[in-house]
Amino acid sequence: MPDMNGMGEDHKPAPRLIPEGRGRYALCVPADASPLLLAARRRPAPYTPVWLMRQAGRYLPEYRAMRARFGFLELCRNPEAAAEVTLQPIERLGVDGAILFADILLILEPLDVGLEFAKGEGPVIHRPVRTAADVTRLGPIDVEAAVPFVFETVRLVTRALAGRVPLIGFAGAPFTVASYLVEGGSSRDYLAVKRLMYESPEAWHRLMSLLSDATARYLNGQIAAGAQAVQLFDSWVGALSPADYRVFVLPHVRALIRALAPGVPVIHFGTGTAALLPLMREAGGDVIGLDWRVDLDAGWAAVGHDVAVQGNLDPAVLLAARPYIRDRVKDVLTRAGGRPGHIFNLGHGVHQQTPAENVKALVDMVHELSGT
Ligand code: CP3
Repeated sequence: MPDMNGMGEDHKPAPRLIPEGRGRYALCVPADASPLLLAARRRPAPYTPVWLMRQAGRYLPEYRAMRARFGFLELCRNPEAAAEVTLQPIERLGVDGAILFADILLILEPLDVGLEFAKGEGPVIHRPVRTAADVTRLGPIDVEAAVPFVFETVRLVTRALAGRVPLIGFAGAPFTVASYLVEGGSSRDYLAVKRLMYESPEAWHRLMSLLSDATARYLNGQIAAGAQAVQLFDSWVGALSPADYRVFVLPHVRALIRALAPGVPVIHFGTGTAALLPLMREAGGDVIGLDWRVDLDAGWAAVGHDVAVQGNLDPAVLLAARPYIRDRVKDVLTRAGGRPGHIFNLGHGVHQQTPAENVKALVDMVHELSGT
């Protein structure tokens, strides 16, 4: 019988040739067999896949050109423009995954807490949630009504990518989103969050449940729209002791991850987490994201070799000269030891001062040094 649906005999999608016009064809490897998704499932890949947090952002001249035309939230709310920004680094860098252009704080908009991205300051919440009474006043988050534009962006990007590389959806983990909601913006010591947590544990758990439920619906909406992997950013959870993480965070992250559509790899990322890694693993995720404050081999041993890892070059290394970058890339790859299940990334996002040519050089180095 002819293979009508393009699936191979063992039901693995086969590579296809996509006409590009003027007699040219592009080889389209179905995204399920992409190096990134293979590594996320700890299957051998032809080379170590690489993508970068904040690969779409201010270090790219083409992103800055878009920002000259749109405010940040305006850009997030405009699916055509957000899709264009998502695709910018794919064309330029040759990365193995696209990350949706959006923000972890978008789901807070229905709470009417006065979210603003102030110039030069990062996010600001004008009416922060500080007390148990404030938590009680919070309305429900109707995700479908709040962020339909995010799901539309996912649809546009998946269509444009046509399987070239998978699209990674994302959301903030409940602790990190709660930290903005309670502090009113970025913080150094997280004193308002910790005060709420210690003084009103019941209100804290209610807030975390509200955010976990909304976040699970948000990620499932992205998956339904076409995202092939999702990353949960717990960027600031390293502010907690392991004992506090276990009581105040772990049950919520576990419930959230268990509520996600099965079969789609989940990347669970945080920074400053060296002491929390075994607990993050316990909370869940197919891939644990490591920042640069832990050596990759030690971090992988801490989470266990029966889970994949992502990371973990210090993003500041990209400000150095090429030979130095190359040595440091080699070091990360050596620590991964050729074991299946490593996705190369930075330990956190690309700094805006980074020369775009160095980012491209990094991607090429990872491919060259890890390829067979
Ligand atoms: O390329 C990508 O990684 C995808 C897009 C993305 C953005 N934010 C765009 C963005 C992603 C994945 C995020 C996640 C996000 N947002 C996190 C977790 C990741 C992390 O960095 O730990 C956090 C904590 C936020 C909240 C947030 N949004 C902050 C703290 C800021 C200010 C950051 C800064 O450097 O000023 C933002 C704004 C933001 N989100 C920008 C971008 C490209 C810069 C805004 C601009 O263009 O002016």
